[in-house]
Amino acid sequence: MINYTDFNTSLMQIMRIVGIDTSCDDTCISIVDVKSQGSNVKSFEILSNVVSSQIKLHRRYGGVYPSLAKREHQKNLPIVLKKALKKGKVTQKNPRVNFLAVTIGPGLDPCLWQGINFTKEVAKRWNLPIIPVNHIEAHILANWLVPIGSKSKIKNKKIEFPAVCLVVSGGHTQLILMRKIGQYKIIGETRDDAAGECFDKTARILGLPYPGGPAIAAEAAKFSVFSRILRDSIKLPRPMINSKDYDFSFSGLKTAVLYDFKSRPKKERRSRAYIRAMAKEIQQAIIDVLIKKTIKAAKNYKAKSIILGGGVVANKELRKQLKEKIKKEIPNSQFLIPDSRLCTDNAAMVALAGYFNRKKATKNYQKIKALANLRIN
Ligand code: KG4
Ligand code: ZN
Repeated sequence: MINYTDFNTSLMQIMRIVGIDTSCDDTCISIVDVKSQGSNVKSFEILSNVVSSQIKLHRRYGGVYPSLAKREHQKNLPIVLKKALKKGKVTQKNPRVNFLAVTIGPGLDPCLWQGINFTKEVAKRWNLPIIPVNHIEAHILANWLVPIGSKSKIKNKKIEFPAVCLVVSGGHTQLILMRKIGQYKIIGETRDDAAGECFDKTARILGLPYPGGPAIAAEAAKFSVFSRILRDSIKLPRPMINSKDYDFSFSGLKTAVLYDFKSRPKKERRSRAYIRAMAKEIQQAIIDVLIKKTIKAAKNYKAKSIILGGGVVANKELRKQLKEKIKKEIPNSQFLIPDSRLCTDNAAMVALAGYFNRKKATKNYQKIKALANLRIN
């Protein structure tokens, strides 16, 4: 721990954590300084947050190809670490790091192992303890961070509990009841495809690039009156929207898109008007279900906060429409979304989750193992 005296003379401590995430197709390393005075955290400061994206590589396959992703992580990890240290102005010789935090799951097994093994090598070299991190918890805790370049270094809003968290990414769609940091219960989840997966797969049907979420959002945003008649002819289901539980299902939506697409003459289904109308309808169908179940859970669990996380939360329409709905239906609840740069996979959220899980730090490296199906409960 680095100690220094603040202007108001009481001792300020800095805990430096290096976060590492290779759960899917991004190689992510970040350095976060946690500044505290006594037991009071003053700020979480992201010194660097490097994400090396493999999007171009996986685009050829229309999705993530695990063995290829693993090989890329292996190649990228040392380069990304160097970059993260340089950007954070941290020297290799005297990095002053207190902990390494690494995602152990959920995620793609070969990819997780690559990050874990690399973390162990660095930990041995620097003689540091490792904190195992759950990727889903990290997505939730991203809400406690402010991105590099923000005026304030700490979120000034105090987050109130209980909270209902909606985590939507390429691999997960979960509603989680959070009683406090570290105490979670999954109250609903997808029974088949994740919402992000649905964006990715339907984008592929329409001939749009991977990742499908941003591609569909961009096409939907270009929707104009010329597509309106077509949109009226597209009827997609809102799967499980009225079911009594908090579960989701998105595979039927994907099939409905495929049927509609195949039923159209080739010229029509390749037209901009059709792609934009369909993109708008796919995005709205996913948003409708996510919003309905989140509001229902928030009301039933008397949530004081609604917390969002995961790549799909970068979707502007989802952010806007959920915000409006909360304002209208449960105006006393707090609504939290990470900055869009912190929604998709990054390691700053992993470093922060490491901070909150620092009791799990260990130098018994053998104990750290990948758990591809790790659950937050
Ligand atoms: O959290 P994330 O970066 O990685 C996983 O843990 O899976 O999420 C990636 C997912 C992809 O399915 C991608 O299509 C989706 O997030 N995504 C979006 C947007 N940006 C990324 N979905 C909808 N709208 C977006 N703007
Ligand atoms: Zn993720």
